[in-house]
Amino acid sequence: MLEQRLSRQYWHLVGHRTELLADNDFILLKWADGEIVLFNDHGNIVAFDNLCPHRGTRFFVEPHGNQPAHCPYHGWRYDAGKVHIPEPQRFTPCDLAKAHLNEFQLEWCADFLFIGVAPILSLSEQLGETEPVLEEISFNIAGRFDFNQYPFECNWRVALENALEPYHIDMVHPDSLGSLRLEEGENVFHGLNSIWRAPVGNGRVDKQLRAMSRLFNIDYRYEGYQSLYIFPYAMLSSTYGYSYSLQNFFPSRDPGRTHFSSRLLTAPVLPERLATAQTFFESTARINRKVFDEDHQICRRIPIHALHTHPILADNEAKVRHFRESLKSVSG
Ligand code: FES
Ligand SMILES: [Fe+2]
Repeated sequence: MLEQRLSRQYWHLVGHRTELLADNDFILLKWADGEIVLFNDHGNIVAFDNLCPHRGTRFFVEPHGNQPAHCPYHGWRYDAGKVHIPEPQRFTPCDLAKAHLNEFQLEWCADFLFIGVAPILSLSEQLGETEPVLEEISFNIAGRFDFNQYPFECNWRVALENALEPYHIDMVHPDSLGSLRLEEGENVFHGLNSIWRAPVGNGRVDKQLRAMSRLFNIDYRYEGYQSLYIFPYAMLSSTYGYSYSLQNFFPSRDPGRTHFSSRLLTAPVLPERLATAQTFFESTARINRKVFDEDHQICRRIPIHALHTHPILADNEAKVRHFRESLKSVSG
């Protein structure tokens, strides 16, 4: 099945180093195969399926937080790279040898974190020319400001295709994203990944946004709206590089649902500008949440079979076409 192949054979962008700085920091994501936990184990980041190796209790239940990996059922815990079992004499040695976490492979692109099950390419090969862009972005992120996770009532491909095209912006986001009046911009295709960059056409907003640069200490950014599609399930979008919205559209076991999450990652702020930046990030987080709700409302009106029955695409839906072709090439 397509989703199984995508999930198993490719790397997945799942987070940024600054989200997991402290011992016991964790992030919990969901996908069709269960869950993905990213966990700081005394400075070492591990990724695993969230299941206790004893009888499979979920270690973590919140989407993010700071908590040791202790199982509340019989007290097993994971610490310093090992599973610790109370009263080990109750178990035969043979049973204990099997007690380990189900870990994912883990790879960094500078400060961005990727996980894999059994990837067929190296991360560099999979990212291609997108790699240096991601590296530069990753060095210009200082932390996370917002974490927004909920199921979309549509297939993941419907949600992702929507995120890939600006054609709907004026209709679906008239008072949010639409107020930027983004220009046509240009698409760049790097293998399975793609980038859309578009100048902000609303002169008044553009001027205001440009003036915000005095709050930040940024050495790489696109002056306009930039949206990266990181194959297969992630998007990273930004206005002027002041913050980045990292979105995951993970498939669900239910084909009519998507495990959506978006995180607002923020650029380094000059110390004397922290209060102003805080207000700016609050408003960015609020607008982003509105944009994703608007996207969700339209996406849930599209039945999954429409993906196959409705192939007509506008020129500014070129990334959707590229995405469909990528999926075809992957399913062989
Ligand atoms: S299920 Fe976790 S300790 Fe028993
Ligand atoms: Fe949208």
